[in-house]
Formats: sequence, structure tokens, C-alpha cells
Amino acid sequence: MNGRIEAVGTHIEANIEATRIIDAAGKLVMPGGIDPHTHLAMPFMGQEACDDFYSGQAAALAGGTTFHVDFALPVQHDLLKGYKEWRYTKAEPNAVMDYGFHMAVTSWSDKVSRDMKTLVEDHGINSFKYFMAYKGALMVNDDELLEGLARCKELGALPQVHAENGDGVARGQDYVFHELGIHDPRGHALSRPEVLEAEATSRAIRLAEFVGAPLYVVHVMGKSSAEEIAAARFRGSRIIGETVTSAIALNDTVLWNANFTEAAKFVMSPPIRSAASGAAVRAALAGGALQLLGTDHAVFNSTQKRAGQDDFRLIPNGVNGIEERMHVAWEELVNAGMISPMDYVRITSTEAAKLFNVYPRKGTIAVGSDADVIVLDPSVEHTLGVGAHHSRMDTNVYEGKKINGKVTTTISRGRVVWHDGKLDVVRGSGRFVPLAPFGSAYASDASGAGRKAGTSVESLLQEQRRAVGDDGGDHRDRVDTGSSHTEL
Ligand code: URP
Ligand code: ZN
Ligand code: ZN
Repeated sequence: MNGRIEAVGTHIEANIEATRIIDAAGKLVMPGGIDPHTHLAMPFMGQEACDDFYSGQAAALAGGTTFHVDFALPVQHDLLKGYKEWRYTKAEPNAVMDYGFHMAVTSWSDKVSRDMKTLVEDHGINSFKYFMAYKGALMVNDDELLEGLARCKELGALPQVHAENGDGVARGQDYVFHELGIHDPRGHALSRPEVLEAEATSRAIRLAEFVGAPLYVVHVMGKSSAEEIAAARFRGSRIIGETVTSAIALNDTVLWNANFTEAAKFVMSPPIRSAASGAAVRAALAGGALQLLGTDHAVFNSTQKRAGQDDFRLIPNGVNGIEERMHVAWEELVNAGMISPMDYVRITSTEAAKLFNVYPRKGTIAVGSDADVIVLDPSVEHTLGVGAHHSRMDTNVYEGKKINGKVTTTISRGRVVWHDGKLDVVRGSGRFVPLAPFGSAYASDASGAGRKAGTSVESLLQEQRRAVGDDGGDHRDRVDTGSSHTEL
């Protein structure tokens, strides 16, 4: 009723006349997928992503995803302008399912700091992303990142990083292009190796520990970056690692294809890594060292990708996945025997709902929750690719991939929008869902000041106070009067 779940059970009294019954015998009924990482209609590297909020969301629904959090970018470094553009121009008129936003922060000033507060308190933004790469465009330096981490902590917002050393990437690109003379898509992988991802991941984690903020690392592509996250979590830091569909299912050999269009479709950043690295990332996700799976759906068709025909540095970065994620994860993780269907629900839906503070409204099947539900038939075999997908893309990085198990029904806020291969969506029907601060990364620590682990100034101060049996009171008077020594 009203898009919410009324009852959950085995014998439900219902008005049969007014009820549509979907037979799910032998199938799995699960919460709709939540994609925590998408870029619909994103302007990037001189192009605009060719899936907008209409085509991208329609594709998502056909693949069993019913909610996503998209990255709004500032317009000329203005956060509020960017937010309004994404919400009212890009999303609202076109959306066919529910969505929220992260906001990217690409510079630092008093206005940025004030706008972050306004966005959190008045506009339903609870996460901010900092790009440590894309030098000269979106990249922030350490000083700006530190300001941003501290501000997020004050606001109860979740800071996120694209972790690659942007200076290293710029140097690598120059070297590969000019010194090695490699201009084709292989140069993309060669110029931004895994070590640059691991370095930035480690640096961002250490800075978050210093500030005492939680940190969400987006699109973990490499083993060594996953190891940095695992080590930080092991020492008790609140670090969240998101990997993406391309990282767990593809490997870097695709960039060695001599056909430019075929190779360029796989160009994304950080790059798709070696098969061994991908296997480690997959194991980290299955074993819990990484927490959730997104897509980084940012799609540029083959004409758009051709902007980098003679120079890999100009290929617009991004791959598809919003429609494929649920199926690829089912095949690579559940069918492969690495995780249970329960874990599948956690990494594709529930974890994101908790982190972005929309649980239990989304991410679960419970009375009162939004009726975002999927039915997956494990006995249906199908093949991913351009011929089957609903995206506007003319290529697909999962072309030809066979999947055992198919989402046969998707229900979005109580409406059957995908059933037996047919989409039934209404442009403009999707709703923006405001996301409140202090999501699960801040659990049991609403102020951020009570952290047990890490090397933040607060935790060091607390440790010192505990060591000297102090009550943690204000010492300023004592310091000012020079009496602190006798009192200590
Ligand atoms: O290649 C990618 N990942 N494109 C989208 C922008 C980003 O870095 O997330
Ligand atoms: Zn990124
Ligand atoms: Zn992204």
C-alpha cells in the first residue's frame, strides 16, 4: 500500500480482486539492489555520459536494482549549483526509480564548507566525495582533503575518496605517451599502475585516522588497495571498501586488444587490474574485507570514446554495469560458491542502505519498508550484451558473459516495473530520497569524538587523560595560570 510493504508471511489475507499475484515458487525473493556508485548524465572529459536518469534507471530496474546513489558534481566548484542541476534538471524530470546523491567536493573555501552544511541539513546529502586523481580537473590536494574530512566528521557525513595518486598518474601518462611512445588504450593501464591506487588508499586512510573520521574508498580495483583497507579495519579504523562489478569480473588483458573500440570500452579509472589482483579483490569482498559492490556506471559510447583514438589520455573514462551488477555478482560470487544468497543481499543492497542511512526503508523486506523487491530465478540461463541490455550504450564490457540466474521480476515502490522481459516505467515517477547524516559508519559514535582506534588528536588526548586519571575537563584555566603541573 502506498508503495510500502504491508505484510510479510506465508498466509496473507488480501483482497484477491485488487491483488496481482506473482508466483515465485522455486525462486528467490530479495530486496531490490542498491547501487552506491553511478554517474548518470555526467559531464566528464569533454563528453556527457550517454545514459541519463531515464535510460540508466530503466536499465537498472531490468537488472534488479531499485535504488542508487549518484554522484552530483559541483558546477564551477559551486556545490549548491551542482546539487540543483543534478536534482532538478538531470534527475527529477527523467527518473523512473528512487535515488539519492553523493556530492563531490573539488576545491576548498569557506563557501564550500558552508554549502556542505546546507546540503547535509537542508537537502538530504550525507556523503561527500574527494577525487585524489584527475589532476587539473576534479583533483583535490592533501590540504583540501584534510579540510573535507574534518568537515564531514563535524557534519556526520561520510567522506569518500577516489584513491589514485593524481601527480603520479600525470607523470606516468607523460612517460608512457612521450617516452615509450604508446598512444593506444594499453597506455591507460601502464600509466596508472596499482601502486598509485594503493598509495592513495593508504594516504587517505591515514589522514582519516588522523582526523578521526570514517572513510569510504570507492571502486577498489586492486589487491594492494584492498589490503590497505583490510589492515586499517583490522586495527579498528572505520574504513569502508567498495569494489565494483568490473573489478571482480574482468581483467586487464582486454586493454591489449588491437581494435581501438574494443579496448577503449574497458577504459576506466582506476584501471581494471590483472586476473590475479581481481581474484584477490573478489575474495576480499566474499570474505568481508571489502564491504559492498557498486558499479561506477559511467558510460561513453564508441563515438565518444573515439575522442582518445590517438591519445589514450583523452579516452573518456568509464564502463557500464548498472544493469549487469546483480547478475554478475550472482554468477561470480554465489554460483562460484564464494558467498551465500544472504551475503549476496548484504553486499548488493543492505550494506549500502545502512551506510547511506536509508535502512530499513530500503535494503530489506520488512513491514513498512519501501516495496522494492526482486524475484530471481536461479534456473534461467542468459547472456549479457548489447542485444539484451537496456542502456543506450552501443557496447557492453560483459558482452557474451553467460549467467545462470535471472531477475525475472522487479517491483519498485509497489509497482511491477520489470516482468518476464518487459519494462513498464514512467518517466518522472522516480523520487529523490533525502539521506540523513550519521549513517552506520558513525554508529555508536554520533559525535565522532569517542573513537577507540586510530591516531586522531582526540583519541590521543583521551588516551593521555585516561593514563593520568583525568576526567577530561577543560584545562585551559590551569594552563593559563601555570598551575597545570601541580594539578596533574
Ligand atoms: O572511470 C571512471 N571511474 N569514471 C567515472 C569517474 C570516476 O572516477 O568515478
Ligand atoms: Zn572515481
Ligand atoms: Zn565513479
